[in-house]
Amino acid sequence: MTHSLFLLPGDGIGTEIMVEVEKVIAWTNAEQLTDFVTDSGLAGGSAYDKHQVAITDEDTAKALAADAVIFGAVGGPKWDNVPYEHRPEAALLRLRKEMAVFANLRPAICYPALADASSLKRELVEGLDILIVRELTGGVYFGEPKTITDLGDGQKRAIDTQVYETYEIDRIARVAFDLARTRNNRVHSADKKNVMKSGVLWDEVVKGVGKDYPDVKLEHILADNAAMQLVRNPKQFDVMVTDNLFGDILSDVAAMLTGSLGMLPSASLGAPDAVTGKRKAFYEPVHGSAPDIAGQGIANPIAMIASFAMALRYSFNMIELADKIEGAIAAVLDDGLRTGDIAQDNRKRVGTEEMGAAILAKLKA
Ligand code: IPM
Ligand code: MG
Repeated sequence: MTHSLFLLPGDGIGTEIMVEVEKVIAWTNAEQLTDFVTDSGLAGGSAYDKHQVAITDEDTAKALAADAVIFGAVGGPKWDNVPYEHRPEAALLRLRKEMAVFANLRPAICYPALADASSLKRELVEGLDILIVRELTGGVYFGEPKTITDLGDGQKRAIDTQVYETYEIDRIARVAFDLARTRNNRVHSADKKNVMKSGVLWDEVVKGVGKDYPDVKLEHILADNAAMQLVRNPKQFDVMVTDNLFGDILSDVAAMLTGSLGMLPSASLGAPDAVTGKRKAFYEPVHGSAPDIAGQGIANPIAMIASFAMALRYSFNMIELADKIEGAIAAVLDDGLRTGDIAQDNRKRVGTEEMGAAILAKLKA
């Protein structure tokens, strides 16, 4: 049975790292481990340059129709002055919203070989395996009104709206609890209920859902304390569920614990289809388009390749193949190969292509 992948490399290093994933896909197809049909489109600045929008209706429709979207990264200083609604990030936000991929899974795993690349001490991060479950289609990212109003007299007023409804909190909480059951049965729910009404409701709904999961230990944590605890003692966490904005921030903190943003994949999943049970799904590295190093062939392709592994795991139930790819990544790191972002003095410094080729060689072995 064929499955469709829609590839959106985006801008900057996005295009360079996508090339390495395409090689992995070509190999899994050639080995008849998969039967992927791929198509690709433009997102972000590259779409703007060609079509004057961050993503076209046509590419959005293709993303909606695909079994999974594999996304690189968007943005760069070149597009700093494009109209706000067409800025590169608008492509990402449009896809998240239209695909309704409300559950963003951001695992932060510290590969043993990289424990020294973290800015925290080895003993704090070695063996780290936490999962941030970020709500992705609601909250202050999308709430209305979202405006800047001119008040005259040189003053303006800017408004963003933080808004959550019960069903949005309920469904993301269930994703977190379900995932906790496949891990260590612990969920921390992070909000700011001490200041925000949306936090009060968040906590109330999560606690209600928690009653359906008596086997999972639920703990409440204020989002600011969560940030502090993540750098103080990150291994105390298993699954952390939080809203869109806190999840954006806390997942960057969690990412850095692992040594480099260049290591972290993510999956964004929608609700299961009532008939087919299939979820819309969007896979992307947590890092951005890194315009400062784009075009030099030195970007780390690991997060991108690991995002493809997440697609195999969550969209296609190809657990063994996903494990194999993650194993290949761990193996090249054990061999001492390092891109610039995770470089250590005594290790072999490689570029994007060489890292991709080494991972592929491990897969073939
Ligand atoms: C992320 C990014 C995006 C976000 C930006 C690029 C819009 O930071 O995926 O974490 O804020 O969600
Ligand atoms: Mg972010």
